[in-house]
Amino acid sequence: MTADFHLYLDSADLGELRACLPHPVVHGVTTNPTLLRRAGVSRRELPALLHECLALGARQVQAQVQAADAQGMLDDAHRLLADFGPGQLVVKIPATREGLRAGAQLGAAGHPVTYTAVYAPEQAHFAATLGAAYAAPYLGRLEDSGIDGLALVAHMQSLVVRTGAPTRLLVASVRSREAYLALLALGVGAVTIPPRLLPELLDHPATLEAERGFLADAQALA
Ligand code: E4P
Repeated sequence: MTADFHLYLDSADLGELRACLPHPVVHGVTTNPTLLRRAGVSRRELPALLHECLALGARQVQAQVQAADAQGMLDDAHRLLADFGPGQLVVKIPATREGLRAGAQLGAAGHPVTYTAVYAPEQAHFAATLGAAYAAPYLGRLEDSGIDGLALVAHMQSLVVRTGAPTRLLVASVRSREAYLALLALGVGAVTIPPRLLPELLDHPATLEAERGFLADAQALA
């Protein structure tokens, strides 16, 4: 894994995260309220879950604010940040009018921000102009709505690169190995995948078959 690409696991389920972590190709873990609800993690339990991810080897964890107004988002963000060291926690904020306000303040104070639920190129561009760490478009959901998601992500990528900002697209809602490979070909800086996809990327059947042959031959060596 090069320093130029960040692979995240998109989950709040400790069982499935433990099955994947630690692994050197995984940069971190992304969560959101929907994933927390699905995994049965309460608001109060969120910091402990994120600390457990760090203890499991995640280099960064991402958690989302749970308010719709800028002040509420900032309050949420500061509550979350209080528990973590510099750079460990990335605050996720929906790329709304209020979200951009809150994120700009957090960014100016030096906190890494991910603008999430990015559906339009101008939102990715705003994220970059505000110096966001990440802007997260949802590939699968874009495609569900009949849009050519890869073409839209490519457009976002070219706008972000043109700003010269260090912002990475962190593409979410990635549901297949093919989608993952197409995103790598576009040169996006980060992808978050459901943990169930990781074995498909790590455990190539032909490599495993070759290894079995080598191990059998190693056993048979004089
Ligand atoms: C992003 O934050 C979401 O957790 C996720 O990527 C959505 O994936 P889905 O559209 O496959 O549910």
